Amino acid sequence: MSDLHLVGLSIRNGSKIYPGTQALKNVDFDLRMGAVNVLVGENGAGKSTLMKVISGVEQLNGGTIELDGKVVAFADRTEAARHGVGIVFQELNLFPNLTVTENIFVGHEKTFGGIHIDSVAQTATARALMKRLEQDIDPDMPLGNLRIGQQQIVEIAKALAENARILILDEPTSALSATEVDVLFRVIGDLKRQGVGIVYISHRLEELIRIGDYITVLRDGVITGSRSMEGVDIPWIVANMIGTASKEFPKTVEHTLGDEVFRVENVCLPRPAGGYSVDHMSLSVRAGEIVGLYGLMGAGRSELLECIMAQHPNSSGKLFIGGAPVREKSVSGRIKRGLALIPEDRKRDGLVQIMTIRENLTLSSLKDFTRIFHLSLKEEAGKAAEFVKRLAIKIASLEHPVSSLSGGNQQKVVIGKALMTQPRILLMDEPSRGIDIGAKAEIFRTMRRLAGDGLGILFVTSDLDEVLALSDRILVMANGRLTGSFPAGANAADVVSAATPNLNRVDTL
Ligand SMILES: Nc1ncnc2c1ncn2[C@@H]1O[C@H](COP(=O)(O)OP(=O)(O)OP(=O)(O)O)[C@@H](O)[C@H]1O
Ligand SMILES: [Mg+2]
Repeated sequence: MSDLHLVGLSIRNGSKIYPGTQALKNVDFDLRMGAVNVLVGENGAGKSTLMKVISGVEQLNGGTIELDGKVVAFADRTEAARHGVGIVFQELNLFPNLTVTENIFVGHEKTFGGIHIDSVAQTATARALMKRLEQDIDPDMPLGNLRIGQQQIVEIAKALAENARILILDEPTSALSATEVDVLFRVIGDLKRQGVGIVYISHRLEELIRIGDYITVLRDGVITGSRSMEGVDIPWIVANMIGTASKEFPKTVEHTLGDEVFRVENVCLPRPAGGYSVDHMSLSVRAGEIVGLYGLMGAGRSELLECIMAQHPNSSGKLFIGGAPVREKSVSGRIKRGLALIPEDRKRDGLVQIMTIRENLTLSSLKDFTRIFHLSLKEEAGKAAEFVKRLAIKIASLEHPVSSLSGGNQQKVVIGKALMTQPRILLMDEPSRGIDIGAKAEIFRTMRRLAGDGLGILFVTSDLDEVLALSDRILVMANGRLTGSFPAGANAADVVSAATPNLNRVDTL
């Protein structure tokens, strides 16, 4: 296979040093054209750093980059783009108040004679890109109105609009549904046939095996394996990633559940255009219970969690904690009552990028440290350090900005931050998004332990294996409504069919 695919870009003996961390250590990497080169490794292994070097966002401290056999040095993103390198970043880099079209063309507008923006041509191209990605998205719509998965698709469209010869996709599917992943894979297949060299980063190992032609494994900044994908299986990947055999999901253990700790009655969120995104939802969670909320993207699951956290002033319905009605109308009031949400979009809702890791961890529980428990700064740092250890967050120092962490480690900070408020009910939206296999098992174990301590957990996931393995009870939503309720050990096919009610039954329950 390797004879079929020419090396378009390569890194020789590449090193990258950040303050406190050597992110890349003498790395040799070949990027093959007309093929999908997958890159895998634990959170903080150096994957994004390697791609930032190739796309001109960061520069090597040692070693060289060769493009078509010639040594190059990209001073910045623009210079790399001029050489045909495009990148979809791990974290969304879009402007919520600009339209979809404007976001796609920001920085490389189509113009008449280099002066006036040709908005007709831009809209037409944006429309064509949405069609190519099989999306029913209006290009004139403000981006902020789209769900995070759709925003991720716009991010991909933006890279496609540049017609790059080398296209880097850093965890492009973390917020996509299975159907959307299929669409993206078809587009990748077309690009491959056109000779584009693709780099694909993901923590979903099945996905890598399905789409990859070549695989490179990174661990602590070192390449531990690099080969053609032929014959590669999950145990091989995991062994190179973490040096041990595959880590399993912790199994649901028999445990007694407590009384009802949380109840939601008739929650509704009207859509501006009529109808409801959350349509008369009711559910309850018992102490010590993990309830998995499964559904397709757009089913209204995230919106339900947002209503519970008082993030939609126009929502209605009743909430009860331990049988007592929740009357607080503000987010902070609800946190005080024992509710905590770990949001899906950590960059927007979860973290303050310019603040330190310690400050982010203690942000929501700050009052506890100053008033309730009379804890000092030193104790705050001690508590932060304890959570860093408990969640195995990989950091050089608590005092570094949270923006210096890898994507997965930022996600763990968001989880730690929510746990610090000592909630009675924990709401988690896609808790394993962007998290490596080892850390995922760690987070699932943490969820189990927390439930064992009597916390009620309601978590949203689009991952079928995850909902089946982790939940004491599975609820399914479609079109804003509850369409199914299953005990632990439910049949996968039943859960999926409840999530796609247009294909079968309607309005049950
Ligand atoms: N701007 C920065 N300043 C300081 N350290 C950084 C910076 N960016 C990354 N690092 C560190 O470099 C290492 C590699 O990070 P990188 O983002 O490349 O990991 P990754 O493999 O992409 O992980 P993930 O799967 O979590 O996204 C980590 O230890 C990270 O904390
Ligand atoms: Mg990364």
